[in-house]
Amino acid sequence: MQQAVRIAPSILSADFARLGEEVRAVDEAGADWIHIDVMDGHFVPNITIGPDIVRALRPHSDLPFDVHLMISPADAYLAAFAEAGSDILTVHAEAGAHLHRTVQHIKALGKKAGVALNPGTPAQAVQPLLGELDLVLVMTVNPGFGGQSFIAGQIDKIKELRARIDASGRAIDLEVDGGINNRHAAQAIAAGADVLVAGSATFSGGDYGDNIAALRGAPRAAASGG
Ligand code: DX5
Ligand code: ZN
Repeated sequence: MQQAVRIAPSILSADFARLGEEVRAVDEAGADWIHIDVMDGHFVPNITIGPDIVRALRPHSDLPFDVHLMISPADAYLAAFAEAGSDILTVHAEAGAHLHRTVQHIKALGKKAGVALNPGTPAQAVQPLLGELDLVLVMTVNPGFGGQSFIAGQIDKIKELRARIDASGRAIDLEVDGGINNRHAAQAIAAGADVLVAGSATFSGGDYGDNIAALRGAPRAAASGG
C-alpha cells in the first residue's frame, strides 16, 4: 500500500562547505529523510561522499540517513557506511553480480536494505528480492549528477513497481530519484511513489520549507492557514 509521501532532500545540491548546517536547515524545514549520494568515479562518472562525511553529519540530524550507494563493488564498504550512522543502505541492481548476497549483508548489519534501478533496468529485476527489501529506488535520471532532467518514460516503471510491491503484501518504500520538481513530484506520487528525492528542487533558491512543502503538494502557507 502506498504510504504517506516523504521528502528526502539530496545533499548533493547543498553547499558542501556548510554541509552540517545545510542538513540542520532541511531537517528544520520539514524534510523526512536526508538523502546522501555516494559516488565512486567508477560505477558513475563522479566522486562525492565517503563514510567519514556520513559520520561527521550524523550529529546534525535525527532524521533517517538514506544512503544511496552508486559504487561498485559495494560489499566492501557496507560495514563502514553502517557504522557511520546510515539507516537505509541502497545499492544498485547493476553494481554487482550477487545482489541477493549484498542485500543479506545489509540486513545482517541491522540496516534497512534498498535496491536502486537505473533507467535502463526493468522493474522485474527486483522481483526475486521483494520478500527481503525495505525500499526500491527508481532512478528517473542516469545516476551521477544532480540537476538533470526527469525521464518521463520511467513513470510506467513506478506504476509497475507499485503493483508488484502491493502484491507482495510487504511495506516496501517506493522511492523516486532524479529531476524531481513540483510537477514531476505530483506525477510520481500519482504513479505510486511514496518517497521523493529532491536535490535541486530543495536547495536551489527560495525557502527550503516552502520548497519541501510544494514537493509534497501541500504548500506550507495553505497547510498552516497563514
Ligand atoms: C543522481 C542522484 C540524485 C540527485 C538528485 O545520481 O542519485 O539523488 O542528487 O538531484 P536532482 O533532484 O537535482 O535531480
Ligand atoms: Zn540519489
